[in-house]
Amino acid sequence: MGEVDADIRRASTLPSRYYTDPELFTGLLKHFKQQWCFAAHRCEAQENNVMPLPHIEAQTGEPMLLSVQDEEARILSGVCTHRGMILTDRPCKTNVIQCPYHGRTFGLDGCFRAMPGFEGVEDFPTDKDDLATFDSGEWNGFFFASLEAKDFATWFAPFIKRMSWWPGSSSITYDRSRHRDHSIEANWIAYVDNYLEGFHIPFVHGDLHATLDHDDYQTELFDGSVLQIGIAREGEPCFDLPQDSVDYGKRIAAYYWWFFPGLMLNVYPWGMSVNIIIPESVNRTRVIYHGYVTDQNKIGIGAGGDLDKVELEDQTVVSGVQRGMNSATYDRGRYSPQHETGVHHFHCMLSK
Ligand code: FES
Ligand SMILES: [Fe+2]
Repeated sequence: MGEVDADIRRASTLPSRYYTDPELFTGLLKHFKQQWCFAAHRCEAQENNVMPLPHIEAQTGEPMLLSVQDEEARILSGVCTHRGMILTDRPCKTNVIQCPYHGRTFGLDGCFRAMPGFEGVEDFPTDKDDLATFDSGEWNGFFFASLEAKDFATWFAPFIKRMSWWPGSSSITYDRSRHRDHSIEANWIAYVDNYLEGFHIPFVHGDLHATLDHDDYQTELFDGSVLQIGIAREGEPCFDLPQDSVDYGKRIAAYYWWFFPGLMLNVYPWGMSVNIIIPESVNRTRVIYHGYVTDQNKIGIGAGGDLDKVELEDQTVVSGVQRGMNSATYDRGRYSPQHETGVHHFHCMLSK
């Protein structure tokens, strides 16, 4: 058993050193390398078929490229096999990937093509000169990449099952204007804790609270993920769900999906906001937003309306918690069994 009791009624929260100890911070980074990372949506590669994935490098330390050739997509290493140069920092449209350092070229499948000045080199090229390929998974045009092979379908099963009615890949567009890059003075765990409960909504998010029915807020736990469901108040926008959805008949305003440790897929009637958590230091976290629109007419209304305001409200409390974690008087608290099952689930995973 880990440091956090599996029974929420008996459990105390994570000790404050999880938020303040630089060694513990470094040790926990391994979790980011062991999970599937969000890469991009197919629609982003329509103009530029080779795309660097800087958020994955920030999360895992591994430079990667999404390479799309006809319908086939691959996640390749973004590191040249000659002397290790980064192949590109910019998306580009190309049939061949050329290293900017000494001109080595690769096909879009990552295979070595050519290299000047290498006449006479023995036993060259071999498959060591090809770009490494990472495991990838795709759902509805959304690509995910992994450094350590795990079954994508199993990992993503709760989402796939629940969201099968969602619009198809061809009706999804990337909205550059919804991109955000936030830097928050707090440990990443404090940011995730806050995401995993709706308990704070009446106190912290006045406008969001006015759109959601607080008594009906739901949290469901899965192996490796948590789903929170926001129910719309009367007259507030919600999904028009098909009969084959288990949620048919409910007035759902938002599905908030979190995947351990640092991926959030927020599904609203207008589309999906992807939040990517990047731990920078023990007390600094970067949060990147990508927005994918399915229904332009629903932008700006309901629970997914003013995300910037909600984000800033969250940052205020999360950085407040970080200051509190440094106090000599605070170490651990207790959980609300009614409202904090998501936070408890996360803490059990982390402390295992
Ligand atoms: S490092 Fe790429 S060609 Fe030399
Ligand atoms: Fe919040």
